[in-house]
Amino acid sequence: MGTCWFLKWVLALGLLGSCVHGLGVNWGTMAIRKLPPKTVVQMLKDNGILKVKLFDADQNTMTALAGSGIEVMVAIPNDQLAVMGDYNRAKDWVKRNVTRYNFNGGVTIKYVAVGNEPFLKSYNGSFLNTTFPALRNIQNALNDAGVGDSIKATVPLNADVYNSPDDQAYPSSGRFRSDINDIMTQIVQFLSQNKAPFTVNIYPFLSLYGNDDFPVDYAFFDGAPQPVVDRGTGIQYTNVFDANFDTLVSALKAAGHGDMPIIVGEVGWPTDGDKNANIGDAIRFYNGLLPRLAGNRGTPLRPGYIEVYLFGLLDEDAKSIDPGNFERHWGIFRYDGQPKFPLDLSGQGQNKLLVGAQNVQYLPAKWCMFNPNAKDLSKLADNIDYACSRSDCTALGYGSSCNNLDTNGNASYAFNMYYQVQNQDEFACNFEGLATITDQNISQGSCNFIIQIVASSSSSLTLSLMGKLENRYLQPAKSLSPSLLEGSKIQDGVKKAIEKRGSGGKHGRENLQATGLSLGEIVQRNQKV
Ligand SMILES: *[C@@H]1O[C@H](CO)[C@@H](O)[C@H](O)[C@H]1NC(C)=O
Ligand SMILES: *[C@@H]1O[C@H](CO)[C@@H](O)[C@H](O)[C@H]1NC(C)=O
Ligand SMILES: *[C@@H]1O[C@H](CO)[C@@H](O)[C@H](O)[C@H]1NC(C)=O
Ligand SMILES: *[C@@H]1O[C@H](CO)[C@@H](O)[C@H](O)[C@H]1NC(C)=O
Ligand SMILES: *[C@@H]1O[C@H](CO)[C@@H](O)[C@H](O)[C@H]1NC(C)=O
Repeated sequence: MGTCWFLKWVLALGLLGSCVHGLGVNWGTMAIRKLPPKTVVQMLKDNGILKVKLFDADQNTMTALAGSGIEVMVAIPNDQLAVMGDYNRAKDWVKRNVTRYNFNGGVTIKYVAVGNEPFLKSYNGSFLNTTFPALRNIQNALNDAGVGDSIKATVPLNADVYNSPDDQAYPSSGRFRSDINDIMTQIVQFLSQNKAPFTVNIYPFLSLYGNDDFPVDYAFFDGAPQPVVDRGTGIQYTNVFDANFDTLVSALKAAGHGDMPIIVGEVGWPTDGDKNANIGDAIRFYNGLLPRLAGNRGTPLRPGYIEVYLFGLLDEDAKSIDPGNFERHWGIFRYDGQPKFPLDLSGQGQNKLLVGAQNVQYLPAKWCMFNPNAKDLSKLADNIDYACSRSDCTALGYGSSCNNLDTNGNASYAFNMYYQVQNQDEFACNFEGLATITDQNISQGSCNFIIQIVASSSSSLTLSLMGKLENRYLQPAKSLSPSLLEGSKIQDGVKKAIEKRGSGGKHGRENLQATGLSLGEIVQRNQKV
């Protein structure tokens, strides 16, 4: 019998695939068409992913996760932080979104994320006064409900809550940002009292994005030609992830909590929407990250296991593109749950494809394209704008997968995206006579003209909702710089993408001086953008 169990165990491991011990993924749901939650949960299981981080506590998602054994981080969106300042509301939230699922066969909730990157500078301090009270009330409510030992509240923070002073710009002199030092100290003390972890999101891609002078190799893990030396410790850093993480370790130490567990709430690499956002770079990044995690290498100041959640599971074509067109392309899976590139989640460096979503329902194989017989082209630009303002044209931008199309190709791409969003309604493929339906696959080279998936009940965003979601702080765009928050409508964004492609996507981010980049500057980069 012992042997039998053992065999079953081996078999299960083999069938289910395995992944880096403790590796998690972020499951965001800001997509025009969502895969059914059950399908996504099956994907997680098929790929051996045992931890998932959510951006809410949606009932359909939670129901699908019930009984799966997958460990879950549920979340309270930023726009609900203020009301959680009322203890009764916090208690009610915990009852409805946490303890309710706490039964045999329910959902294994391990963490509650209180807000999401609430101290981003671009929020102008909007959540400074509400985050800590919400954290305190939620953890206290968990404690009062008797689940506080196993379920911890934490605040996923942007890496710009800490930095190093300009005159000692290296990790060992990391401190919390001076303008929020008091609040960060309170938060860290409270987390410590409750044995809860610090959660931070770290994005080497953003260090590189829009900064042509950033030394590319530092964004990855395969070694930089010139390691940068921390003058405080003598440690040599060859990648910005380590440098950034260790800046946090030092900030925690300075606050008297150098041993506090740290979770990396988000880390990943986008595959489209920028010249550095492509499959090759994503493979390079993950091929460096995953073996390090599997080997429990940790960082110079924190060797050992790090709990990490990849960002993200699926592409989300309804996310705000204020930070850049890449924002909709962070998935290790495409919009339809199919793997984009070989990725070995076990960190063993094997060149294998992830297991895609099963039984995905697609619309028929029909595309909308530019009508080659169209006579009057004077309205073409307007119609492309219209189509793109109501669908996702980010792949057309500079450096992206569909950037090499000709005018007709651009029009076809835009028309098709709109037509698919409209469930292939034939009236959605007219555009004043400029468009026509075809059953020929009009994809070109790297540019995939997609067929949308069928809307699952309760899971499709209507277009008006898309606009509304944009403005919620549900899953905010990453590291917004203030200028990027203006005109946050999808419409404006895509229009800009179409009109201004080629401009390189600097979006007002600071430029690095071409020469003499110090480690401090490299680290700051990750924090300030
Ligand atoms: C918490 O649960 C309630 C009741 O099911 C639901 O209305 C609410 O949306 C949930 N909160 C979040 C953040 O998902
Ligand atoms: C932050 O302030 C800037 C400049 O005053 C403003 O344009 C932007 O809309 C503000 N953002 C938020 C989230 O309040
Ligand atoms: C936060 O509280 C401070 C002090 O009470 C107050 O001056 C500030 O306006 C508040 N900020 C916000 C965004 O409510
Ligand atoms: C099509 O779009 C691409 C990329 O956005 C742009 O560079 C190109 O000029 C457009 N082609 C034509 C012929 O308009
Ligand atoms: C269309 O062609 C592209 C490129 O060859 C391919 O990747 C894609 O799967 C095809 N789409 C359909 C629906 O067959």
